[in-house]
Amino acid sequence: MSPASQSKPLTLALSKGRIFDETMPLLAAAGVQVSENPETSRKLILPTSNPDLQLIIVRASDVPTYVQYGAADFGIAGKDVLNEHTAQELGGLYQPIDLNIAQCRLCVAVREGFDYEAAVHQGSRLRIATKYVQAAREHFARKGVYVDIIKLYGSMELAPLVGLADAIVDLVSTGNTLKANHLVAVEDVAYISSRLIINQASLKTRGQRLQPFIDAFARASTT
Ligand code: ATP
Ligand code: PRP
Repeated sequence: MSPASQSKPLTLALSKGRIFDETMPLLAAAGVQVSENPETSRKLILPTSNPDLQLIIVRASDVPTYVQYGAADFGIAGKDVLNEHTAQELGGLYQPIDLNIAQCRLCVAVREGFDYEAAVHQGSRLRIATKYVQAAREHFARKGVYVDIIKLYGSMELAPLVGLADAIVDLVSTGNTLKANHLVAVEDVAYISSRLIINQASLKTRGQRLQPFIDAFARASTT
């Protein structure tokens, strides 16, 4: 599909929750207000106070897909999500700015008392449960550790508690979720924050309209 036509408002793809919440100040810096909250509204297309900008609300992991195909001109996605997309999928995307929002770490975590270092040292084949298959595979390949990766879609913390896996690769921010489940982080895989992503064709054909938003987001994200 081609990028949204010239006459349509610009479309920004966001996920609800923390990305939506943390994007509101960036939009405010661009002079844009959003009166509806996706937590309470069932609408998936939200107008804004700027007639030339609408938001679409999609799953966090679907944001790059909407932008790649030009169904959204731009979007905001975590590096964790971007890392799981192939180079080919990201080919049509321009990633100009790290917005420094939704900051966390991608970590390896194990049950309290599990001797991870010893398991790695002994060359045991570890079972790793994660939603972040690509990042986990690359991390353990870099370390030269043999792993079997089990793909999960959520609640990774449960896996080591019920014997599904020796370790998980998951996002950690405050550490409260790990603590509540008697897990500990043993290794950092990556620092994570969210990036602005832009459809390359949109940038060519609608660049003049996009630029003020890109500039305002860039200014707001560094202050
Ligand atoms: P999906 O709905 O596609 O499965 P999700 O449930 O991971 O995605 P969110 O929980 O809204 O979606 O997270 C959106 C983004 O926020 C993630 O991709 C990540 O970059 C970041 N993030 C996730 N958890 C945290 C956290 N605890 N603290 C800070 N940022 C986080
Ligand atoms: C994310 C992540 C961890 C949690 C870590 O889940 O998957 O479970 O945050 O944050 P903490 O270190 O501050 O406890 P999220 O809250 O997004 O819920 P989700 O399972 O719906 O993604």
